[in-house]
Amino acid sequence: MLDRSLTDALARDLAAASFTSEGVAALVGESAAAALTRMIAHPARRAALRRPGPLSTLVRALWLGDAVDEAALADALPQLGVDGAIALGLVERRGGTVAPLMAIRPHDYADALGEGSWWIASDLDELAGLWPLRPDHVLGVGGAARTLAHLLPLEPCSQALDLGTGCGIVALHLRRIAERVVATDISARALGFAELTAALNGVDGIELRLGSLFEPVAGERFDLIASNPPFVITPRTAGVPEYEYRDGGEPGDALMAAVVAGLAEHLVEGGQARLLGNWETVGDTTGLERARGWSEGGDVDAWAIERDALSPVGYAELWLRDGGTLPRDADHDRLLDAWLDDFEARGVREIGMGWLALRKHGGAPSLERFERIGHPVQLEHVGAHLASAFADAAALAALDDEALTAAHLVVSPDVTEARHQLPGAAGPTVIELRQGGGLGRTLSVDTALAALVGACDGELAIGQLVAAIAGLLEVDGDVLGADLLPRVRELLVTGFLRGVTER
Ligand SMILES: C[S@@+](CC[C@H](N)C(=O)[O-])C[C@H]1O[C@@H](n2cnc3c(N)ncnc32)[C@H](O)[C@@H]1O
Repeated sequence: MLDRSLTDALARDLAAASFTSEGVAALVGESAAAALTRMIAHPARRAALRRPGPLSTLVRALWLGDAVDEAALADALPQLGVDGAIALGLVERRGGTVAPLMAIRPHDYADALGEGSWWIASDLDELAGLWPLRPDHVLGVGGAARTLAHLLPLEPCSQALDLGTGCGIVALHLRRIAERVVATDISARALGFAELTAALNGVDGIELRLGSLFEPVAGERFDLIASNPPFVITPRTAGVPEYEYRDGGEPGDALMAAVVAGLAEHLVEGGQARLLGNWETVGDTTGLERARGWSEGGDVDAWAIERDALSPVGYAELWLRDGGTLPRDADHDRLLDAWLDDFEARGVREIGMGWLALRKHGGAPSLERFERIGHPVQLEHVGAHLASAFADAAALAALDDEALTAAHLVVSPDVTEARHQLPGAAGPTVIELRQGGGLGRTLSVDTALAALVGACDGELAIGQLVAAIAGLLEVDGDVLGADLLPRVRELLVTGFLRGVTER
């Protein structure tokens, strides 16, 4: 149990020293601060050493992991004091200096609910020259956690679960939406960091529980489940390092399958889940097809978005590098062999990486999409888009074609149209609808659909528009309607058109 008087004192000291992203950038300079995000410490250390003072000491100790002079730390932490920092497990006395035992770094966030900053406690890492990482290393905030935060629906809810909380970053995001958050982890060390993270930021309502997968929440249901699970596929070969933060200890992508399979019985009806994950293409079954299998029959609508896919060699290379093993290292080829042997033995041809969104339904599924979206996507739009797509799909499932024909729809304000025409041609050869928000899709459409979308200003019903366009194109109205209506449904779910549900 943390001593709240100590964590409060630490928070006051950090604030007083301007230990924020902005404050640190002002101290070390923008380019040195940017280098920190690329795990390059030296420019920041060099700048901080030139400008001694409380902020410089905190940057060196808590961000870069440098041992610092005891008097300087006492000066930087006037309320907590060095003894308080030792009592919190933040530092230890070592050979006349004080050495940090963990990292505390500011993390900024911004989304439709607002912006802010938290201090995140985690293990010291490469920035502190610690390499290789310990097997039970607890990650700070990385790109994956940032991405997952952007996938969350931002609608208020009652209960949320963060499965595999690590330093607690996703739990903090969930707590902005949910009245109560349960954050679990298999690592007691991780829960210790998550507890400190929450306390430092004065965030209550996060309950920490130790245990694997859904064990700690047996029999409980949530409105929202988020997880950045340890999805990295690692060969189960003796001598291959395993890292708790990235490796769930299962062969292949079995851990992902277990997480997805467990979601339905822990979601309330209408409850949603957002996950990051990897999926293997095994033989002729693509990764996305296998991901479909994980949720099938589970009373959930499911949407998997594959953002990238790597060959076994590319995948092994990525995670060997992440673990600090480079091609020049003695161990490299042995470890690469272990990865490739494992993929070969199981017939794995490719590994997809991406996002999974699920929604528990009470009846038949209304949305099942398993697709590759490799183009750049503006992440800040994604959470709201996924949530409204599930709502639209459910509303559409209840709407037969007759009712859809009577609906008045509007084109979304972020949609633009581009026409490409060969020089001298009478009309366009390609018409594209482009989406600024949502998943940033570009669709090639024919004249009829372009005309329909262009006319969707809510004034006339879809059936009236189809009839008018059929007249203009001199085609049969029923035939055109049968062609356009399924595509109107697709445009509603993908966010090009609106109007079926209130937003
Ligand atoms: C990739 S890290 C994510 C940490 C944090 N949520 C984030 O996004 O930065 C995965 C976390 O899952 C935890 N974990 C590993 N195996 C687990 C299991 N079987 N059940 C629950 N958590 C597990 C690890 O300890 C680690 O903290």
